[in-house]
Parts: sequence; structure tokens; C-alpha cells
Amino acid sequence: MTDQQASCLLEMRGITKYFPGVKALDNVDIELDRGEILAVIGENGAGKSTLMNILGGIYHPDTGKIFLDEQEVAIDSVHRATQLGIAFVHQELNLSDNLDVAANVFLGREPRQTEFLRLIDRKKIYHETEKILKRIEMDCSPRTLVRDLTIGAQQMVEIAKALSINARILIMDEPTSSLSRNEAEQLFKVMKELRLQGVGIIYISHRLGEVKEVADRVTVLRDGKVSGRLKREEIVYDNMIRLMVGRDIEKFYHHEHEASTTPVFEVRDFLVPGQPNKPINFTIHAGEILVVAGLVGAGRTELAHALFGIDEPLGGAVFLDGKPITIKNPWDAIRAGIGLVPEDRKLHGLIVEMAVELNTTLAGLDRYQTMKMIQFDQVRSITHEMVQKLNIRLRNINQVVESLSGGNQQKVVLAKWLSLHPRVLLMDEPTRGIDVIAKEEIYRLMEQLASQGVAILVISSEMQEVIGIADRIIVMHDGEVSGELQHKEQFTEEAVVSLATGGK
Ligand SMILES: Nc1ncnc2c1ncn2[C@@H]1O[C@H](COP(=O)(O)OP(=O)(O)OP(=O)(O)O)[C@@H](O)[C@H]1O
Ligand SMILES: [Mg+2]
Repeated sequence: MTDQQASCLLEMRGITKYFPGVKALDNVDIELDRGEILAVIGENGAGKSTLMNILGGIYHPDTGKIFLDEQEVAIDSVHRATQLGIAFVHQELNLSDNLDVAANVFLGREPRQTEFLRLIDRKKIYHETEKILKRIEMDCSPRTLVRDLTIGAQQMVEIAKALSINARILIMDEPTSSLSRNEAEQLFKVMKELRLQGVGIIYISHRLGEVKEVADRVTVLRDGKVSGRLKREEIVYDNMIRLMVGRDIEKFYHHEHEASTTPVFEVRDFLVPGQPNKPINFTIHAGEILVVAGLVGAGRTELAHALFGIDEPLGGAVFLDGKPITIKNPWDAIRAGIGLVPEDRKLHGLIVEMAVELNTTLAGLDRYQTMKMIQFDQVRSITHEMVQKLNIRLRNINQVVESLSGGNQQKVVLAKWLSLHPRVLLMDEPTRGIDVIAKEEIYRLMEQLASQGVAILVISSEMQEVIGIADRIIVMHDGEVSGELQHKEQFTEEAVVSLATGGK
């Protein structure tokens, strides 16, 4: 062992992990120093979360060793990982909706008033939580119920929870995937502060621009193996892509379709629940990609939910191809030809305990029935087509969705709606958690749908995506449409941000 290795905070050596039918990790080595931000990147399904789940005590490796401060440790439970000072912000949110922020932050580790009485010390919980929230500049009361927070804010609660254990090692599995640019910047500030305090941070992200911004070093995984390591000065886009994919790729996405002027989806004086005084008006034309930009919490998801019938609107009218339609629940929407790729795939998108093939065809099962019998060969062939189109990585289509990697689960949500051939497709953060290569595939698919005349509404918080894919942009602020950008020349980050923060 060299001197340099000996000073490591963390080493994982020769980690191998099998799942039924896949070798998820193959002899992986990583090391992390004190006060270092190590980014772990790789395509969807490369093994990043599996490696972190091993470090976090959730999975046990088949072979391999873990050293903390040169001491070999056995991390056989989440509890043990926490004791060792390893905190984990998971890719999927893990909060209890019906508890408040403070209760979530201290869940399972509630401080007691006295050793003898063992009563939970609520005062301390609120006080400590307030301090942590202040530290991450999160403007919310520790008494807010988690279910009343946006996904972005919920993600910040996860981070608060991780900070509350005074971690030596902080694992963040795609912490920014549902954060706005501002929130992400806030998080980077916190990460840099922790780095100064000597915390080692492992940061997983598909946003390569952010990796370049914050990482001290990068380790790249490909098909369960380390395909390369990059030092600070080597962290550039091309190097990252080459190690991720194993080849160079040319610039991918080209905006080619022409939006028409034929209105397909018209929304008039539409009132989203909770916003009785803020009527929303917009039109999407055939073959048009309308992007709804705005900060997290601006009311975009609520709008999509009301349009799709998840929540009933308070008023207004919706027209499809010139005819008024009434949508009281998602089935009405589906029958009318409207699809929704939801932001929260676990809540509204997928039944993760069920097979991939059932999930992809769920919303349209009545189409694959003859005399009440499901035509499974049809279900299968549609699923195979989608798996190929979206390049979903799986062993077979009757695998449960739960056993897919996060990004591949998101692709199953897309498959579910694409297979219905909707007339109007509402997409709420559709590329969240998707690797750069698959992202391009999804943009290409949107392009294809637009060329076929589908009206597409995309809610996106990723500026590059907003500007890259839009034919037109409307921006929401505080439940209202605060402005519209009609021409490509107007699509700039400044213009969007200014409208998103309430400017004109
Ligand atoms: N519980 C499980 N059961 C079976 N297979 C699994 C399980 N968890 C992960 N896998 C498989 O292990 C491989 C690695 O998955 P992992 O979740 O680590 O990928 P990832 O790099 O985190 O991808 P993403 O960027 O999509 O989150 C994939 O092939 C996945 O299907
Ligand atoms: Mg993952």
C-alpha cells in the first residue's frame, strides 16, 4: 500500500455483486479522501446505486472489502453504516408523508428527554431541525407536513436528514435530479462547506455540467466495472462520455420538426385547485413542443395533474381538436387521448411490484383484450418494441420494475404512455434521472411524436433542455403564467429566469 492510499478515508476493494441473472458489480475499487467530492457516473444500470447501497449497509457484496481509516469494517446494516458516520441521500425519496419535517429528519433516532423516562424530546427535535434547515437555507418550518412540500423541497429534507447524523461520509445518489437550478446551487454551497469540514462526499449525477462544477475526482462505471478515473483537470464532457459509453459520440439532438398552426389542445380560463383567482390560458398546436418552465413550486405539476384529471379543476374549459372535453379523472383523460408522464413515477406512474410488460401496457389494457381476455402476445410484442425503442436495460420483460435501475424505471413510464399513441402528451420532468445518452434518445422520440402531429407539453427545470427542445416556452410563477417566449431568439437563460422569478 502506498502512502497516498494509506491516508484514505474510505476504500472499497474488489467489490462484486450478483443479482439473479446479472453481475451488477464486477471487482470494483473506489477510494475517497477526507474533504473530497468524488463523483461516480455511468449510464443507467451501470451499477452506481448498487455500489452505494453496499456502502450504506443495504446490500451485502458477494466479494470485496471496505476500509474506513484503513480499518476493515463490516457494514451489515443501515444502522451500522449510520454508526460509522455514513449518511445516504437516496435516489428515490424515502420520507414519511404524514409526518412533519422535523419528525422525518430524526426518524428512528429521536433524542430522549432522559435516559430513564425515554420520552421523545420534541423541543430538541424542532430546535435541531431548525438549525439544519437554516444551514441549508431552506425556508420552511420544521412543523410542515412532508406531503405539503414539493418534490424539490422533499429532497432538501432528505439532505437535512443526512446532515443531522454528523456524517463523515455523505453519499448523494442524484440529489439534484428534482432540484431547481437555485436549489442545486444551494446544495453545492453546502457540499463545499462540508468538504472544508473534512467530510468525504460521494456524488452521483447524470448532469455532467454539475459534475464538472463540483467534483474533485470522477470514477466512471460501465457495465458494473470501473472504466476509468478522471482527475480534476481531466473532468470535461468528452472524457466523461467516452468512459461512460466506451466510444466518442457526435453531437446528438437535432431540432427538425415543424410545429403547425392548427390548435390541438386549448386550455381556457382553467383554474387549478388551490388557485381560484389565477386562470390559465394556453394552446398547443399539432406537432408543437410547448415547454412550461418555472421554479420548483411554481404550480406546474399541479397544472398537469388538473389537466389529466388527477385533481379536479375549479373551472375553465379544455378543447381537443376544437371540441370541448370534460376530464374528471385520469380514465377520462386517457379515453380522450391525453397521456401524462408524471414527475413522481412511484406514486402515479408505475406499479413497481409488477412485471415490466404489465406496466408498459397497463394504461391501455382494454385495447389488448378480446372478450375480456388479455391478449398476452400483443402485450409482449408492444413491450418488446418499446424496450428496443427506448433501449431499456433489463433481463426480460416479466422482471418486476422494482429490480430495474432508476433511469430504466423512468423509461418504463415513458413506454407506458408512448404505447398508447396519445394525441396530447403531458410530460413532467421526463428525463429526470436519465443518463445523457438515453436523454438524447428521448428527445429524438419527442421529435418523432411531434413530426406525427402530437401536441406535447413538457415541464422541465433543466435549462439546457428547456431551450434545446422547445418550439415555444411559457413560464409559470406563483401559480400563474408569467410570460411567454415565442421565438427561438428569445430563448435565453436570462429571459426564462427573469420570468420565473416574477419579472416581466
Ligand atoms: N434489487 C435488484 N434486483 C435485481 N437486479 C437489480 C436490483 N437492483 C439493481 N439491479 C440491477 O443491477 C444493475 C445495476 O443497477 P443500479 O441500480 O446499480 O444502476 P445505476 O447505475 O444506479 O443506474 P441509474 O443511473 O439508472 O440509477 C442493473 O442491471 C439493475 O437492473
Ligand atoms: Mg441509480
